Amino acid sequence: MRIDVLTVLPGLFDCFLSEGIIGKAVQSGKVEVNVVNIRDFALDKHKVVDDVPYGGGPGMVLKPEPIFRAYEELTKEGEKPYVILTEPWGETFNQDMALEFSKKERLLIICGRYEGVDERVKALVDREVSIGDYVLTGGELPAMVIMDAVIRLLPGVLGNEESLKADSFMDRGLLGYPNYTRPAEFRGMKVPEVLLSGHHKKIELWRKEQSLRKTLKRKPEVIERLKKEGMLTKEELRILEKIEREMEGGKES
Ligand SMILES: C[S@@+](CC[C@H](N)C(=O)[O-])C[C@H]1O[C@@H](n2cnc3c(N)ncnc32)[C@H](O)[C@@H]1O
Repeated sequence: MRIDVLTVLPGLFDCFLSEGIIGKAVQSGKVEVNVVNIRDFALDKHKVVDDVPYGGGPGMVLKPEPIFRAYEELTKEGEKPYVILTEPWGETFNQDMALEFSKKERLLIICGRYEGVDERVKALVDREVSIGDYVLTGGELPAMVIMDAVIRLLPGVLGNEESLKADSFMDRGLLGYPNYTRPAEFRGMKVPEVLLSGHHKKIELWRKEQSLRKTLKRKPEVIERLKKEGMLTKEELRILEKIEREMEGGKES
């Protein structure tokens, strides 16, 4: 996969693209990331990329010409990229979107700054994406959030791809189960006995129950939907009945 990022602050991506799993994915060529400074495509000698908003009001707006020129330069050859614009009012990013984006050959992410981008930039855009209902100073952190979630899904990026299956949202939207590591007892807090038993079937059942319990508590709408669509197994329905009985009886932790 190739990802182009258009930004006025390219230096923000240095650490992100050189450390950890993402750094390794870049170094091994599993993903090619090309961070482009929008300023390099400004038309005037001072490399101005922003201007005051028409109609007045506070702040500055990213001009359309440098963004269009950068886009045209980057798309001269090869596959046309799927273009994402980071916007606080965009569609909220989620795991399904990350899966969808991870199947594209090429992505191009435009990072807004100041009061945002000139509305006419939208002519280039396939999807406006938000990372949540709050306002950041720019689209660089959202671009990194999107890239991180997408790149870790690419084949061969995670050492053990089995871990993807256990991730929250990867199995019908269910949340993940809790994890423990050594020591078996830490400051009086014990690891659940079943995890020390070596009994794989029982461990699997415990993890399933924990995942259903957490989803029912934090995202009841997901359980509701899965029930409605008949997407839960008999065993899962039985576990849920047990949890719901406990909740009614006030026993639930
Ligand atoms: C200060 S914000 C602009 C806010 C905009 N004037 C508004 O009314 O929401 C500057 C840029 O940061 C990015 N941004 C800020 N918050 C974001 C979020 N929650 N998700 C995605 N991008 C965001 C966008 O690219 C945006 O154009």
